[in-house]
Formats: sequence, C-alpha cells, structure tokens
Amino acid sequence: MDVGPAAGAYGGEVLYSGPLAGLKGVGSSETAKHLFANAAASVAARRNPKQWLRLEGVTRNNLHQVAVSIPLDVLVAVTGVSGSGKSTLVSQALVDLIAAHLGQPIEDGEEDDALAAHPSVVLTQGRILSGMEGIRRLVRVDQRPIGRTPRSNIATYTGLFDEVRKLFASTKLARTRKYDAGRFSFNVTKGRCETCKGEGQVCVELLFLPSVYSPCPTCHGARFNAKTLEVTWGGKNIAEVLNLRVDDAIVFFDTSPSVRHSLQVLHEVGLGYLRLGQPATELSGGEAQRVKLATELQRATRGNTIYVLDEPTTGLHPADVTRLLRQLNELVSAGNSVVIVEHDMHVVAASDWVIDIGPGAGEEGGTIVGEGTPEQIAHISGSRTAPYIRSRLGISGRIKGASYRRQIVIPSETTMKSLSESHQIETASRRRPKHPSHRRNSRTKSK
Ligand SMILES: Nc1ncnc2c1ncn2[C@@H]1O[C@H](COP(=O)(O)OP(=O)(O)OP(=O)(O)O)[C@@H](O)[C@H]1O
Ligand SMILES: [Mg+2]
Ligand SMILES: [Zn+2]
Repeated sequence: MDVGPAAGAYGGEVLYSGPLAGLKGVGSSETAKHLFANAAASVAARRNPKQWLRLEGVTRNNLHQVAVSIPLDVLVAVTGVSGSGKSTLVSQALVDLIAAHLGQPIEDGEEDDALAAHPSVVLTQGRILSGMEGIRRLVRVDQRPIGRTPRSNIATYTGLFDEVRKLFASTKLARTRKYDAGRFSFNVTKGRCETCKGEGQVCVELLFLPSVYSPCPTCHGARFNAKTLEVTWGGKNIAEVLNLRVDDAIVFFDTSPSVRHSLQVLHEVGLGYLRLGQPATELSGGEAQRVKLATELQRATRGNTIYVLDEPTTGLHPADVTRLLRQLNELVSAGNSVVIVEHDMHVVAASDWVIDIGPGAGEEGGTIVGEGTPEQIAHISGSRTAPYIRSRLGISGRIKGASYRRQIVIPSETTMKSLSESHQIETASRRRPKHPSHRRNSRTKSK
C-alpha cells in the first residue's frame, strides 16, 4: 500500500493497494521509482582526499587500540553490522577527541546548559596524530529532539522567526504603537497571551489522573494577546504566519530575501510540509535532524568544519535520502568534511570513502575491516558490508582480487584515477540482470 505522493499537505492519498508487481505501473509513486529502478547506482565522480585525520590508540566500548585515518574534505561513510562499533568510533571517540583538541564544547546546534554544567567524564582513550590543522569546527547533527519545550519550533530554531518579527515591527501600525520585534515573541510578556504564557495551551490538573493539556481559553491557541494580533504583515497576523507551512511561507515571504532563504533550505531538506510554528517536541527524529542540518546549511558556509551524523537516513524514504545526500555533498563542496554512520547502501555507494567496522557485533567487532573507496570495500572478503555495496554498485557477486583487510589505503591521485577507470570497465562488462536467487547465493557465499 503506497501513500503519498509527497509529504504533509502534498500527501495523504492512497496511491496504490495490491500485489507488489502492480505498483510498477503507478506513475505518481515515488516508491515505485526507487523499488523498480533496475539500473545500478551511477558512480559519481569520487572526490580525492588530500588531507587525513589520523587517530591512534582509540579505546572505548568494543574498540581496543584502534588506528584509523579519516579523510577530510570528502564524504566518509562508516559501515558495519549493528553493534560493530560505528557509533562508538564516530559519535563518541571521534567527537570527543576533536572537541578536546579544539577546546570546544560539543556543538549540536542546541545550547544545553545542563550538559555544559557537567564536565564530561573522559571515556575515550586515544589521540589525534595529525590532521587537525584542517579542522576549525565540529558539528554533530543527530536525531535528538531540538527542544524539550513547545516554545521551540522550526521558525525559532532556524532563526528565521527573528527576521519575521522584525518585519512585523516595521509595519505602520506597529511603529505607531511603538511595538518592537520583541512584542511579536510568544516568550516575552509584552505581546504574548498571559493566560497560557504564550504556550497556546494550558495544563489542566485532574485529581487522581495525569494532567492534560487543553487549548488556552483566552487565545484559543494563538499564543499572542489580542492587541498583538491586530498587527498584520501582508494580510496575516503573527499567529497566522506561524500556522503557514514552509512551502506556503516561501510564496508569502517572496519579497523578504533573508526569510525566504531560510525557508528555501528547509524546503530543500524535504521539510516544506511542516508548519513554521509546529512545536519542536512534535518533530520526528528524522525531521529534527533535518531541521538541524537546514540550520547549518543556511549559515554562511565557513568551511573547515567537520560534520558528524549518525544514521541520518533512518526513517527516510529513498526520495528523501537522495535529497539528504545532495545536502551533504553541498557541505563538502563548500570546503567541509562529512562523516556519517550509515546503513543505507545508496548513501554508502555514493560516498567518497568508506570505513567498514566489524566484522561482527560487540567483542566480535570493533576492528577496522577495511578503508577505501566503495569499490575497494566491495571486494573485501571479510566484510559483511561488501556484498551489499557490490549489489548496489552493480558489481557481480564473486569476490575477486586482493583483500584490503586492515590495510590503510591512501591512494595518490593517479592511483585513484586508474582505480576508478578500471572499476568502470569492470562494472560495464560484468553487469547482468540480477535474479533474486543469485543475490541470495552471493550473500551466503561471502559469510
Ligand atoms: N556506554 C557503553 N558501555 C559499554 N558498552 C557499550 C556502550 N555503548 C555501546 N556499547 C557496546 O559497544 C558495541 C558497539 O556499539 P555501537 O553503539 O558503537 O554500535 P553501532 O555499530 O553504532 O551499532 P548500531 O548500528 O546498532 O547503531 C556494542 O556491543 C555495544 O553493546
Ligand atoms: Mg550506532
Ligand atoms: Zn493563551
């Protein structure tokens, strides 16, 4: 059963319901496009790493004295079965070591005073040998909620609400009444509804029962007081603006470049269907992560930043994965490094470099099985990821050639070039129609 065609207001229709094969004929289905795409993933031109961040002696959880080199200024995917140690290496060790080196509290786009108050216990052992000269900033973009109170929403989080409030303060009526931008904030006494303190809802305490939230009896969810709501910009008051979806707001704020720019980025990460005022607490993990990503993307691209993402594609449709990948590549093009923990083979195959961890989970894992381009990883016999990269790249099931196991490959430009050339020839000549049983065989064989 396929629902869509797109998200939010653009979805909500059952496009198809029936046996799988019939979905193929449904032209409006994004799912069909990805499900029945038989062409192997086109191998994008890989970027050639020039700088390396070298880590040594990394010890934490199931990682023991691990040495690893992470290429900078490229898109790096870290793979491996669940429990192999990917998050330990990337989200914990790498983040800790870089943050310690920069003397920077770990940035995740959220000022978390509670965390900052507790000096973190150093759980990671290890050191950075070299490569830090290419990194000025570390940003972790994870799926943690972007706010714990309904006072935070995508408009406030991305900063675009500041611009919107300035627009309202610049209207004739606001100026006559001497309303400044702060008047249009639901967090400040001046303009908000005092019954609900700007929350739009009130907590009703029930005897013997858990308290429930109900719409504010005074403002009915508008969050602002009546005087504030009298001010309009472009025919809408501030509460109505917060009710706009991103895509509609793009049209509404057509003449305000700075607001429009933030909205455009939200649209590009696939969040055009969200309402500006939707409380951050209501966002899904994947949505929260993309809001963080959009917030990063709209900032002036500073370069020399390393972005760390742990399974950013969780819960995303292939169409959204493609969009996310485009955003990540944009970060790299702007002179940044992106390291992602990833299970999605589409993303892995499209990465410039892969670090495969494992081979198994827990103490069976925790070692570097291979480091190299997706094509190189695809040929490692001990890698559980290899068969899936092979199938994604359209390389036939058999493992051929040398094993790259535990080998740090730092190819020169010429090797890289010849590698990718030889691979292209191989892919082209060996590609053949895939049969389900054939795929299954190749997978069992490699175990
Ligand atoms: N805080 C911890 N203390 C002790 N062991 C831990 C801790 N966190 C994780 N581990 C163990 O370390 C191993 C690697 O965990 P890690 O979270 O790095 O896996 P992963 O590769 O990210 O897996 P997944 O794909 O499921 O996210 C697992 O066996 C896990 O049980
Ligand atoms: Mg993990
Ligand atoms: Zn109210």
